[in-house]
Order: sequence, then structure tokens, then C-alpha cells
Amino acid sequence: MKYKVAIIGTGAVAISHIAACRQEQARVDLVAAMDVERARVEAFGAQHDISQRYTDVAEMLAAHKPDVVLIGSPPGVHRAQIIECLEAGAWVLCEKPFVRSLAELDEIEAAERRTGRYAASVFQMRFGSGARHLRRLIAEGTFGRPLVGMSQTTWYRDDAYYAVDWRSSADFASSGVTATLGVHNIDLALSLLGDWQEVRAMIGTQNHDMQTDDAAIAAVRFENGAMLSITNSTVSPKEETYLRLDFEKATVEVRYVYGYSNDNWQFSIPAWAPDREKLIAASAIPDDIPTKQATQFAAFLDSLARGERPAASGPGVRPTLEFITALYKAAITGRPVRRGEITQADPFYGDLGGRGAG
Ligand SMILES: NC(=O)c1ccc[n+]([C@@H]2O[C@H](COP(=O)([O-])OP(=O)(O)OC[C@H]3O[C@@H](n4cnc5c(N)ncnc54)[C@H](O)[C@@H]3O)[C@@H](O)[C@H]2O)c1
Repeated sequence: MKYKVAIIGTGAVAISHIAACRQEQARVDLVAAMDVERARVEAFGAQHDISQRYTDVAEMLAAHKPDVVLIGSPPGVHRAQIIECLEAGAWVLCEKPFVRSLAELDEIEAAERRTGRYAASVFQMRFGSGARHLRRLIAEGTFGRPLVGMSQTTWYRDDAYYAVDWRSSADFASSGVTATLGVHNIDLALSLLGDWQEVRAMIGTQNHDMQTDDAAIAAVRFENGAMLSITNSTVSPKEETYLRLDFEKATVEVRYVYGYSNDNWQFSIPAWAPDREKLIAASAIPDDIPTKQATQFAAFLDSLARGERPAASGPGVRPTLEFITALYKAAITGRPVRRGEITQADPFYGDLGGRGAG
């Protein structure tokens, strides 16, 4: 029996969802597509051979009772649509930014408990073979302690990109460069370095005429003692995504733009490392799995088959969302923010940008 899959949101990102379904065609049937814009869903359906096309989520869910829904609508509607799909019996894989606040994440976790279904965030950078291999090496302490690092998402987005309303004004912080774009490499860094302890930050709107920020700089200290600098921007003519981690006995780098494969990773072992040959051998990444939504979708379907909570859901996504919230809080208040301090009483709990903070 194949899983019935439906797509919500047929804009730019939905092509990745089509690719994911194609890759998994032995396990899934793509049964329907939905978008609020009739013309968009019709064109998308015609292009990808999906005959069942809807402009209403409830109607689509009632007609097809999908096992899985892939959501690629704007962030402002994610919370409501995720909960509606869970209530209809589906598991959900939703694009980042998954939700706009920790309060919304709590609502989704409550819906998961009510329904016994799960909702995961797309965070494809965690799933490539380079990241999986490095996580293993870090867990085994192969290179010694992580000491310092840098995460850089320096991209370019023109005015036409920000002319789409949700990207520039509707929800200022949740459409900012850190929440929507820098978050990929940050999620990768957090998946490697573990619990963060404290963040200091600045945000700015450097070269676009809009409310949303297009640049952010941050400094983070982790529980394991490592320190990481972060730069995110959409005003950088030369686009680059970079993560560098310096361990006691090795430097590990990955340099890419929108997705990496093994070729993008570099492991540098110094001549003075006593067990150099052993470390070089340990650096070799055993398989070559690129970072695509399809890679995460395969892991998501494995979890569904086992009836287990998928990666990047619930407690597996909270640390990243808490970190993004804390980065905005640190920038907006001008004070360092510690993990765990954004409780329900905090103005930033209900809104990533702290609206209501006065
Ligand atoms: N994981 C990634 O690498 C990646 C890449 C690009 C975009 N994204 C994310 O995907 C989401 C969509 O981005 P995009 O670039 O495709 O945007 P887009 O503007 O191209 O497409 C959004 C689509 O959603 C539709 N829509 C609007 N309101 C809707 C609603 N209530 N219900 C259903 N559909 C609705 C729009 O008509 C449009 O077709 C965003 O959250 C974005 O951050 C993720």
C-alpha cells in the first residue's frame, strides 16, 4: 500500500516537493495539490500531472484523506494548516520557517498529542551525508573538543524577491534573513554543536526598502564551550554559505550555496596531529547523500512506516526555533539571551520579533 500525499502551496518551493515524491514513487502516490490562487494550482497541476486541484484546504483533506501533507505555503499560515492537517489524520512535513513563534510550536505539539500524528520542519541541511558523518565523529570525540567556528549565509536577494508581500512586511522578524534563509546553516551548526548557552546579536536593513531585516551578525557560546560567529545577509553580491568548525586536532569546513554534497566538505588535519593518518582515514565520508528535500522526505517516510516521531519535529526542532527567537531578542533588546529564558511570560514567546515587547 502506498502513502497518499498532498501538496499545499504550489509556488517556487513546490518543485522540490514534486522531486521528493518522484524519488519516493515506490512508496507514495501524489493525489492532490492545493493553493489559494486558482491559476497557480491549475498550472502546477497541469505541469506535474496532478488532476485533483483545490483552493481550499478542508475540501482537499475531506476528499482525499492524505497520509502525508507537504506544506510550502507562506509562514503566516503554517500553524493553522499544520494543525488542520494533523486533525484530519495526516503527518506533515512543512517548509521552514516552520512557525512564527514558540507559542505556535507549543500549539502544534498539543495537536500532535491530541491526534497521535506528527509535524516536522523541512531542514534539509541536517540530512546530507557530510553532516551525518561529522555528527558521528563529534559524538565519538575523534577530533577532540570543538573550540571556535563560523556560520555564514551571505546571499543576494533583489527587490523583486521582496516584492512578494510575506517576504518583506507581513511578519517582520519571521520573514527576516535569519528566520528564512540563515536558519538552514544555523540548523546545521546546531545539529553538530548541540545545546547553545548564550547569544548576542545585531540585525539591520542594509540595502532594501522594507521592514524586514536583510542582515544579522551574532556571537554564540555553546554548553560544550565552543564559540560560533554567525553572519546572515541578502545583500552580498557573491553568494556563499560556509560553515567552519575548529576542533583541537582538525578544521572542518563546508562551502556551498543552496545545497551540499561530499565534494563541498574539507577536513584539514595538521601535520603535528599525533594520530594524523588515523584521523585522515576517519574523515572519509562513507556514502554520498546530497541535501535535498527528497533526502529528508525519505527519512520522514521511514519514521512514518515505523510510527516514530520524525527528525526535526517537536523536541527535534525546538532548539533551532528557540535559538532564532533568542537571536532576534538579543538584537532587539541589545542584551545577551540565554537558552531557556524565553518562557511563556516573555514577549518574544508569542512573536519571534517581540511585538508586544513595547
Ligand atoms: N527549504 C528550502 O530550501 C526552501 C526554499 C524556498 C522556500 N522555502 C519556504 O517555502 C515556503 C514558500 O516559499 P516560496 O518561495 O515557494 O514562496 P512563493 O511565494 O513562491 O509560493 C508560495 C505559494 O503559496 C501560496 N499561498 C499563499 N497563501 C496560501 C494559503 N493560505 N494556502 C495555500 N497556499 C497559499 C501562494 O499563492 C504561492 O503559490 C516559505 O515558507 C519559504 O521559506 C524553503
